Amino acid sequence: MKVLYAVSEAKPFIAAGGLGDVAGSLPAALRRRLIGCRVVLPLYEGIPQKYKDEMHFITHITVPVSWRRQYCGIFEAKYNGVIYYFIDNQYYFKRQGIYGHYDDAERFAFFSRAVLEMLPAIDFKPDIINCNDWQTALVPVYYSKYYAWREGFENIKTVFTIHNIQYQGQYGHEVLGDVAGFAEEDAPLLENDGCINFMKGAIECANMVTTVSPSYANEILDPWYAHGLDHILNERRWKLHGILNGIDTVANDPATDPNLPANFSAEDPANKAVCKEALQKEMGLPVAPDVPLVGIVSRLVSHKGLDLVKCVLEEFLTTENVQMVVLGSGDWQYETFFSDMAARYPDRLAVRLGFVPALASRIYGGSDIFLMPSKSEPCGLSQMFALRYGSVPVVRATGGLRDSIQDSGNNEGNGFVFEDYNAHDMLHALRRAIHGYQDKEGWAILRRRAMECDNSWGKSANEYIKLYKALLKG
Ligand code: GLC
Repeated sequence: MKVLYAVSEAKPFIAAGGLGDVAGSLPAALRRRLIGCRVVLPLYEGIPQKYKDEMHFITHITVPVSWRRQYCGIFEAKYNGVIYYFIDNQYYFKRQGIYGHYDDAERFAFFSRAVLEMLPAIDFKPDIINCNDWQTALVPVYYSKYYAWREGFENIKTVFTIHNIQYQGQYGHEVLGDVAGFAEEDAPLLENDGCINFMKGAIECANMVTTVSPSYANEILDPWYAHGLDHILNERRWKLHGILNGIDTVANDPATDPNLPANFSAEDPANKAVCKEALQKEMGLPVAPDVPLVGIVSRLVSHKGLDLVKCVLEEFLTTENVQMVVLGSGDWQYETFFSDMAARYPDRLAVRLGFVPALASRIYGGSDIFLMPSKSEPCGLSQMFALRYGSVPVVRATGGLRDSIQDSGNNEGNGFVFEDYNAHDMLHALRRAIHGYQDKEGWAILRRRAMECDNSWGKSANEYIKLYKALLKG
């Protein structure tokens, strides 16, 4: 079986979020299970030169973008045993930042079309094309409209994976013809709520739709989570599946992570205390080995549940003997809120605004408790990193958080879970965690259980393979 994984970001080349982690690790896991899997992504300006130096040019073609044709170079590189193809067009991709340009609809329509147009030029005819999020959502639409019956393109099945339903690629009607190159009669495939919606098109046209946890697959049938796509998902429910993501447990291992001041493991966690002390120093907090340290590593946007934190943070910091570190960037209102609170409670709260992967590792490694109270969370990877680094998660039961964290109230479990999106319920769960931390022996047992959770790709990669096989059997 051959799978082409089409995606707008992939580690280690370039990543803006969890999608890049998945695209950097699932393909290798599939290959380890003898599934031929290759990846295709745009050749962005921001890819570090050392990776560009390892790429080699295969050929160039032209790709239709509505009524015009655009240059498309195809490069190839091998990483971790996986072949990556890079789509080159400097007009579209030689820019700062990977998303957020005025012509993103055109950039990713071009990329999606290039994924199909390149197939005759590479020595790889996929059985499955697995696309991801709105940026590659037009692949199944183009395939079903223009390629399915073309020589050399027969019998390809398309899978569309939703990593976050909030970002759908919604545009005005003019995008349909002038940018995406569809005819007026194709409009119903892509229209939703009066807009052209790339994700809607993929849900219509892909042979299978997956999302990144079983709970999220249920949640997005509900208008509260679906951002306007619940009707179409309910109609197409038979092709929707949820598979929990895994993480790269080799690249993210506290026993070898070079970003940590000292390494540790579930069997030998002693150096976690060294990491905690170093983190307290680095963040300018008092060194206090016995004060529970709560970490947050998050984009500072509302669906991460920061309204709950905003509501009770002061109460938490003034009624508990606790410290907290926050790393992230995002909406102005949360950035200023956390900065102001850190200025008012400098011995309790330290904040760094930005995206600093090495510091993120040190927070996973140095904190005791990891807070992730998301309003919605398709899968979430941070709670899995936190588990592995022995920072016990406090989470709201939603999406992948519900599927990966079980409450430890019954002396099983690996964290602390609250159900309702309510600030005092979160505070109560945090207090249960702090209370648990006071019991040194009990905490060591809980922490070990957390660290021993297996979130590697094994099980999930097997589930993808099962779905792919079912699809190919027809
Ligand atoms: C998106 C989701 C996140 C998920 C990631 C990888 O970033 O918001 O929950 O873990 O994609 O699938």
